[in-house]
Amino acid sequence: MKPTQIISAITFSTLAASVSALAVFKVNYEDGSVSSGYPTTGSHRVLVPGNEPNLATAKDAVYVVAGGAHNTAFAVANKVVLDDPAYVGGGYPRSEFGFAGFPGAIYKDGDHGEYSFSMLFKDLVPSVKGTRDAPAEDVVWQFKHHGGGHDLHLALIGTNLVLGWGGNVYKQVIIDDVMPYVNQWMDFRFDILWKSDNTGYFTFDMKLPRERKLGHRLGHRLGHTVAMKNLQTYVTASPDGTPWTGTGSIQYGVYRHSANSTAGDTKTLIVYHDEVTATNFNATADPSN
Ligand SMILES: *[C@@H]1O[C@H](CO)[C@@H](O)[C@H](O)[C@H]1NC(C)=O
Ligand SMILES: *[C@@H]1O[C@H](CO)[C@@H](O)[C@H](O)[C@H]1NC(C)=O
Repeated sequence: MKPTQIISAITFSTLAASVSALAVFKVNYEDGSVSSGYPTTGSHRVLVPGNEPNLATAKDAVYVVAGGAHNTAFAVANKVVLDDPAYVGGGYPRSEFGFAGFPGAIYKDGDHGEYSFSMLFKDLVPSVKGTRDAPAEDVVWQFKHHGGGHDLHLALIGTNLVLGWGGNVYKQVIIDDVMPYVNQWMDFRFDILWKSDNTGYFTFDMKLPRERKLGHRLGHRLGHTVAMKNLQTYVTASPDGTPWTGTGSIQYGVYRHSANSTAGDTKTLIVYHDEVTATNFNATADPSN
């Protein structure tokens, strides 16, 4: 909106202040690099498995693939193979990016954030439950506290895609059977008011292949839009009371905290991500954007 002469000086300065309080973090991998052009060393860096100490060491834990979401050139793949120490990071089978150095990707109590991304499950062979109640949960996107758990997350559990919130307390199946969508791009979006009291909200939308827009319903398919309000979105402790001290940030890739190949979990899991945009309306601009 363009200020005109009739806008008073005080209105104009408020407007300017709110415009500057906006941090946007974006990656689209179109330059063909696994960090989408961001540094991978120094304090302002993307943490990349295969490069970062204490993360997976496998050369193919992360790689760029041709054929990104929305007909773009490239996307990024995260791969975890069970029972191979080269795919272990921070003590668990995991290949996930970290973005805690980027104001757009970070959130704290009271912030308002919007996040969109595309995701593809590559040649998925789903985990089976075997003699357990359910297959293990593989986290593919999370809003996670530094030194704590996740506030909200998306996870594959067998053929289900599940949305979790409230620090892993609440869960809802948002795609009943992902198999028809394997090797196809799906779009996701979150709008979240991060609150540690009960005044937070989140809206989750997704667009499955062949659908026209986010939140569009087709028949009685599960999910599409999940909207919750008047709840704690910014979780400050685990259910057992262990405090989560650090701020939150987006984190994505593949995190297989409980996977067990002997019990029926798929040995290899590869997930692509692309077109990730994270906006924090209460933070100042990312220096590198
Ligand atoms: C953050 O910005 C949103 C508007 O996008 C506003 O509603 C909220 O009160 C702000 N939070 C803080 C802590 O200033
Ligand atoms: C993995 O599953 C097998 C077969 O069910 C079981 O014997 C084993 O204890 C499990 N391993 C762990 C670490 O839970």
